[in-house]
Amino acid sequence: QAQNNKIVINADQEVSTISRHIYGHFAEHLGEGIYGGVWVGEDSDIPNTNGYRTDVLEALQHLEVPNIRWPGGCFADEYNWRDGIGPIDERPNTINTHWGMVIEDNSFGTHEFLNFTEMLGAEPVVAMNVGSGTPREMQNWIEYMNYDGDSDLANLRRENGRDEPWGVNYVGIGNESWGCGGNMDPAYYSDLYKRFATYVRDYSGNEITRVASGYSNEQYYWTDKVMEEASHMLDAISLHYYTIAGESWTNKGASVNFGEDLYFDGIRKALRLDEFIQGHKNRMDEYDPEERVGLFVDEWGIWTDPLPGSNPGFLQQQNSLRDALIAAISLDIMNKHSDRVWMANIAQMVNVLQAVILTEGDQMIKTPTYHVFDLYRVHFDTELLQTNSTITSYGHGGEVIPSISYTASKSDDGRINLTITNLDADNTQDVELDFRGIDHLGTVSTGMILTADEVSSINTFEDPENVILQDFSDHELDGTTLSVTLPSKSVVMLTIE
Ligand code: AHR
Repeated sequence: QAQNNKIVINADQEVSTISRHIYGHFAEHLGEGIYGGVWVGEDSDIPNTNGYRTDVLEALQHLEVPNIRWPGGCFADEYNWRDGIGPIDERPNTINTHWGMVIEDNSFGTHEFLNFTEMLGAEPVVAMNVGSGTPREMQNWIEYMNYDGDSDLANLRRENGRDEPWGVNYVGIGNESWGCGGNMDPAYYSDLYKRFATYVRDYSGNEITRVASGYSNEQYYWTDKVMEEASHMLDAISLHYYTIAGESWTNKGASVNFGEDLYFDGIRKALRLDEFIQGHKNRMDEYDPEERVGLFVDEWGIWTDPLPGSNPGFLQQQNSLRDALIAAISLDIMNKHSDRVWMANIAQMVNVLQAVILTEGDQMIKTPTYHVFDLYRVHFDTELLQTNSTITSYGHGGEVIPSISYTASKSDDGRINLTITNLDADNTQDVELDFRGIDHLGTVSTGMILTADEVSSINTFEDPENVILQDFSDHELDGTTLSVTLPSKSVVMLTIE
């Protein structure tokens, strides 16, 4: 039975710019996130372009991936960049001690990563090793990547095949420094941050955005201390938030064949990102009222139990319509907070956690989450519009959440972009959108929908197009009112010229 929702959109009131960097990705040396997923090497039977899987490259090019964070995660604080340069067959075999104790042959290193970002037109975000590295190693790495003069390190880069510097603009200074990145307390980390940040040099006019390690969820005390001690040297601080649909980290819930309980709890918990971002913003406001420092949600997504039979250290999970809806609401929340949230990175890009792409041998599928990223490209570098809404509730198991999530934005050329999600697993939702501050609306120029039979519907290598985008026309424009009927568990994108 259809339910009624009302959204008022003030088309003349722009709140903040939605940076395209909110739609960034995270690619760690973890399981098959890089090896097998992105990089197969030039000699592979899997079709590749200079060693990169051609299918994955093309799928990512279509998404216009704005940035990629690399090499970790926890891996970053154990990584020695010098292992990953020079002739590939001369690079050392090291051990990925954090993720499954597997051999890391270092065939994907600095050149392979930075050339990859160039092929995608994406900004590289390089996470520096603070946990087990030194400021000198970090400084050398940045010089190697960014210096255009005649230094030994810049010449080493040239010898290794790259003449021009890449011009890396974003560096992370430590990852989860409270945990796998060194088990520090915030006062100690703040001092260390300042020490490392001092040696992040802006070589050759490259102004680097320095990102401090933040905490996750509601650990506001960390943000509070780091902002107090180091805000004058910060450009951004991170926040990590993983949705655990199940009861706890030891029982995270399955990524396949689940029912409405794990669906509802996944959605309900993903919605908490709003409260956590607001909490960290409140602490930041105290030390940085001018909003000079960004809050980068540089790891987010649903984390489920590993797929049965997979290596638990590889964090492999399937990706369902539920996860696509979690992506939609997370992106809506970050759009809403785009006054401080200027960058975010889904964890992770390929084959790990909430991946947009899964591969197996020479096969590749685009997950339901991929399609949400495809739809949400309309919001890249647009202005978030001011809205008010009256939304119906969706209840399950004694808990209640709103049944609708949305973002309304305006492009430079005046186009209005809407993404609307019906979270209700069972009911159709009618949504009436009332536009104010605008004389008339043109026509709905695009309408697309992502939905499926079940909240647990997935794409598989046998059936890769079970959950895909389809044209959507269940909308009607009357003057400045747009009426949309959303099927249960669906994400709709509409543009109005
Ligand atoms: O994304 C997997 C891991 O989750 C990352 O390496 C770490 O930063 C976080 O705990």
